[in-house]
Amino acid sequence: MRDPLRRLLHRGLEVSGLIGPLHRRQERRHAELSSDPYQDGLPMPPAALIGAVAGTGSQRWYSEKGKQDATWFISVAASHGATWDGARVWDLGCGCGRIARWIAPDVLKSGGDFLGTDINRALVGWCDANLPGRYLRNSLQPPVKRASGDRDLVYAYSVFTHLRETAIRSWLAEIARVLRPGGLAMLTFHDEAYAAAWGPESVRVSLQSAPLVIFNDALEGSNYLSTWIRRSTFIALAEEHFSVLEIVPGRGDEPVQALAVLQKRS
Ligand SMILES: C[S@@+](CC[C@H](N)C(=O)[O-])C[C@H]1O[C@@H](n2cnc3c(N)ncnc32)[C@H](O)[C@@H]1O
Repeated sequence: MRDPLRRLLHRGLEVSGLIGPLHRRQERRHAELSSDPYQDGLPMPPAALIGAVAGTGSQRWYSEKGKQDATWFISVAASHGATWDGARVWDLGCGCGRIARWIAPDVLKSGGDFLGTDINRALVGWCDANLPGRYLRNSLQPPVKRASGDRDLVYAYSVFTHLRETAIRSWLAEIARVLRPGGLAMLTFHDEAYAAAWGPESVRVSLQSAPLVIFNDALEGSNYLSTWIRRSTFIALAEEHFSVLEIVPGRGDEPVQALAVLQKRS
């Protein structure tokens, strides 16, 4: 469907309040259609939960891409001198533990502590019952129930991609509060490179001049709403609280989001 027509239809559904149930039904249908059994040594979430975070129910994709993204976070943090052994780690917007399942076991074995939080009760409930680590619900806006300086490492994969600017600003401040001085945050986002390869046309065009674009502006925190941010915008927001160590642009060859590596100032 062409963009203006699609926008009109979606706007009607958003205003009528029908978009929430319809979006969730579509997620479940996609998940059921693509569900496939796969083992990786830990319990696998049901297709409906995988679908709620990934837009597919494929257990193979979920497991293998989760491992790939976890390995990425581990190596990027290590390249900036961070130690995972014994670290106090926080996965913000952990979903049903796609990445946590590859990180939490080793962190716990090395004497560290692993916390996952998410706004979706069903997702953190499943993690808490099935995965190593502790999992809590947080609200759309901070705070998270943690003391200041409580964590050494924080990562969030595809969470800032579903928040409006106000929530992005408050979560950046909250992550800075919860990190110890010198601690590292790794946060992914949809930048202009990712938009050029994978974004809807209206977003690609708008992002050439706009600092931040919201696509489907309803159901904040769900995959329905998507947020697109120029790298320079993300840097400016992050620099209010952090030293920006590295920005890895989003990839065009495969759908890997941009990554901001931030350090809490000492
Ligand atoms: C695209 S999914 C990614 C999940 C997980 N990080 C992964 O990579 O599989 C986005 C996740 O962010 C969660 N989320 C959205 N807004 C949030 C917020 N303000 N605080 C915590 N979690 C949030 C959603 O519930 C969802 O689980």
